[in-house]
Amino acid sequence: MKKFLFLFFLVPITIQAQDTLSGDTLAFRQKMEWFKDAKMGIFIHWGIYSVNGISESWSFFNGQIPHEDYVKQAEGFTAQNYKPEYWAGMIKESGARYSVITSKHHDGFALWDSSLGGFSAKDNSAAQKDLLSPFVNALRENNLKVGLYYSLPDWTWPDYTEHTRTIKRYRIDEAPDRWAKFLNYYQGQLKELMNRYDPDLWWFDGDWEHTAEEWDIENTRNLLTRHNPKVIFNSRLQGHGDYDTPEIGLPVMKPKAEYWELCMTMNDSWGYQHTDLNYKSPQQVMDILVDCIGKGGNLLLDIGPKADGTIPLEQENILKELGKWTGKHAEAIYGSRAGVPYEHFNGPSALSKDRKNLYLFVRDIPKDGNIIVKGISNPIKNISLVGNDTELSQKLFCKVSWNTYPGILYIQIPEDAQDDYYTVVKLELEGEINLYRENSGAIESND
Ligand code: GLC
Repeated sequence: MKKFLFLFFLVPITIQAQDTLSGDTLAFRQKMEWFKDAKMGIFIHWGIYSVNGISESWSFFNGQIPHEDYVKQAEGFTAQNYKPEYWAGMIKESGARYSVITSKHHDGFALWDSSLGGFSAKDNSAAQKDLLSPFVNALRENNLKVGLYYSLPDWTWPDYTEHTRTIKRYRIDEAPDRWAKFLNYYQGQLKELMNRYDPDLWWFDGDWEHTAEEWDIENTRNLLTRHNPKVIFNSRLQGHGDYDTPEIGLPVMKPKAEYWELCMTMNDSWGYQHTDLNYKSPQQVMDILVDCIGKGGNLLLDIGPKADGTIPLEQENILKELGKWTGKHAEAIYGSRAGVPYEHFNGPSALSKDRKNLYLFVRDIPKDGNIIVKGISNPIKNISLVGNDTELSQKLFCKVSWNTYPGILYIQIPEDAQDDYYTVVKLELEGEINLYRENSGAIESND
């Protein structure tokens, strides 16, 4: 009887607990899971701006070049050495799990052969063909998720409101029919992209130019979600996105948002600019990646291929170096969750999804070879190096029997274990991580 009563009281609690994770929340988490696990994606800005090596779209918008001359670059956009399988192979090799490509930037230049007219690689450039389809196919063949960047503003399309910073074609309240034509055009393009490519992720940009109502964002989102309920949206949708999209600014504090992705250039440009040689070193890119992983986010790292379709050597080199590191340390990267606060380990770290393994990312081995970990209450089953399974020696200081303070743990890393970028130390814990975050230390028991 006692047993029965106990069960009786337990049932409603269980139902309630499930309830909070039901419906939208659970479905939302499920749809976001691959994204949360992915940790790295490759962004691609490929367009006619690579011909002169000027800033994508903004160069004419801001008056650095007349629109007419900007558009003329299309004559030099040959794509003659474009090897989409090679691109996808490089992306795979880097360790990225998805890629986001500019199907259309603010200049309106479409990489696919849109049947709705407009400015496109097929109809208006030297390439004379659809450049998007073979890349999407190559990504899928490599088991990579497909993201499509799509600019809401189209500064070339005659029925769009803005043309340049100083030339505004019309105001929506003065010409609502004209705006309706534009909405029809952009939503038509999205239907085309959705039906043809069925992307896993939409990466919108340029939402700042109009309000959510003006963009008709709810309908746009519904349209794309009806087609694929699991599709993910970045946040540049006037408040209607699924995850935060910081740009260039690596978050200093761990973001509050559970889902986020930092988009970042390798040099200072999104598209290919031959004059921009201010590349980050592979180490610096790795620093950014590890920081994102440690704070529970993703890095969307940009490449800007040349007009002939080749990837600049500096960019390819970064992808390859990333690949060496991500391949060796896959277990600490994919599917991991944000690590422990810096009070516990003075550097980035990550936790396995079940929270039973803690991974410490060690950039440089300290002069006495020891890293220090504090405030982990769990018994530690094993400490090893990720990538070669060497067991590491440890020494615990300041642990006494008369209180629960877990002591200060010194872990010795052999000199020859230093990775070229980040050495990763794995702590296998007994149970889920239990952090000790008190200012204790006084006697608690006197046995
Ligand atoms: C900005 C810029 C754009 C770039 C994008 C990448 O919104 O307008 O040129 O493509 O960021 O995040």
